[in-house]
Order: sequence, then structure tokens, then C-alpha cells
Amino acid sequence: MDTIGSRRSIRKYKPDEVSRDLIEQIAEAARLAPSAKNRQPWRFIVYTGAQKERLLDVMQQALQKEQQTHALLPESAGGLPDAFNTLKIMRTAPVIIIVMNTNGKSPFDPTDADSRITEICDTLSIGAAIQDMLLKATELGLGTLWIANTCYAYNDLAEFVGEQGQLVGAIAVGYPDEAPAQRPRKPLGEIIEYR
Ligand SMILES: Cc1cc2nc3c(=O)[nH]c(=O)nc-3n(C[C@H](O)[C@H](O)[C@H](O)COP(=O)(O)O)c2cc1C
Repeated sequence: MDTIGSRRSIRKYKPDEVSRDLIEQIAEAARLAPSAKNRQPWRFIVYTGAQKERLLDVMQQALQKEQQTHALLPESAGGLPDAFNTLKIMRTAPVIIIVMNTNGKSPFDPTDADSRITEICDTLSIGAAIQDMLLKATELGLGTLWIANTCYAYNDLAEFVGEQGQLVGAIAVGYPDEAPAQRPRKPLGEIIEYR
């Protein structure tokens, strides 16, 4: 509970590098997560240094393209300023972990109910793995940000990363350069009901 209670989304990082040993401890936490049918549908691509900058250059160009054309997510255009803000945060983090669903496909491809249910189960499994990673990172004194705003740059990022499956999102990792207060949460009475 201490680790769960002290985790925060960190949006400002120190430039200090994160050792490979720590990255692997974080990945080990993901490896132990539960998954639907034990499919373990996750894969993590760790970007640092010049490769991270290239990844984020691709994201920046794709966001600019989306801002001009609204070709990818026209109904969600209101979220684009937040995506640019997330990109700025990602620039300050020394490590960006791209999270892949190895069984998934592009969210822009058509689907059917069976595949959708499989995808929901795999996405939930990946969510469990990501949360394990955030908690392990917190325990190690690292800050993290769980990122879904990669969706606005989906096609270009997926092509750049070049992995099979669905690009679910990203995690920024680094030493925190801020200590935000706990963000508001709904009271227990609002989220639980006994019948
Ligand atoms: C699936 C998911 C996607 C998120 N995507 C982003 C994002 O793209 N950019 C961002 O700044 N924060 C993102 N967040 C962080 C949330 O805004 C944050 O968890 C929430 O406001 C609560 O704050 P806390 O994490 O400090 O408790 C995401 C969180 C989740 C779980």
C-alpha cells in the first residue's frame, strides 16, 4: 500500500540516466503479471539516447500532421494539445518504453466481436503488467508516466518501431524532478456497492 499510495504520474524528469539493471527489474515486474489464458501478450521496446530522440521526432511530425489534417482521430481532436504536452514531457524523460500487444492489430483496422473480446483481455493483461512496472519503478525511486497519447501518432510510430502487433502506448521512466501531491480520487462510497 505504501508504494501504491506514493506512486504519481511524473511529468518532469532529471536528465540522469537509468541503469539497465533498473530497467530490467522493472521489466521483471511486468513479466510476473497475470494475463488472460497466460498469453503474456506484452513486449517492451526500450528507447534511450539518440534512438529515443528519433522516436520522439517521429511522434512530433505525426502530431503536427494530425493537427493539420485530423485524418486519424477526427472525433478526438480536442485531445491534441494534451498530446503535444505529453510529447514535451517525453523529451525530458531519459527512457521511453514502447508497450506492444504482440497479439493485437492496428486500432484502425476493422474487427469482429471475437477479436474484440480477445483484445480487451490482452489489453487488461497489459494494463496489469504496466501497473506492476510503475509500482516497481516507484519502489526503486524512479518516476513514471503512463502514456496513451501515442494514439494520435499511431501509424508513424508503429512503422518506426517496426514490431508485430499493436502499439498500446508508452511509459516514460526517469528520476523525478517534481513531487506532485496526490491527484483527486473518487471516494470509496462512490466506487463500491454491496448487493
Ligand atoms: C491508460 C492511461 C493513459 C494515460 N495517458 C497519459 C498521457 O498520454 N499523458 C499524460 O500526461 N498522462 C497520461 N496518463 C496519466 C493520468 O493522467 C494519471 O494517471 C491520472 O491523472 C492520475 O494521476 P496519478 O497517476 O498521479 O495518480 C495516463 C494514464 C493511464 C492509466
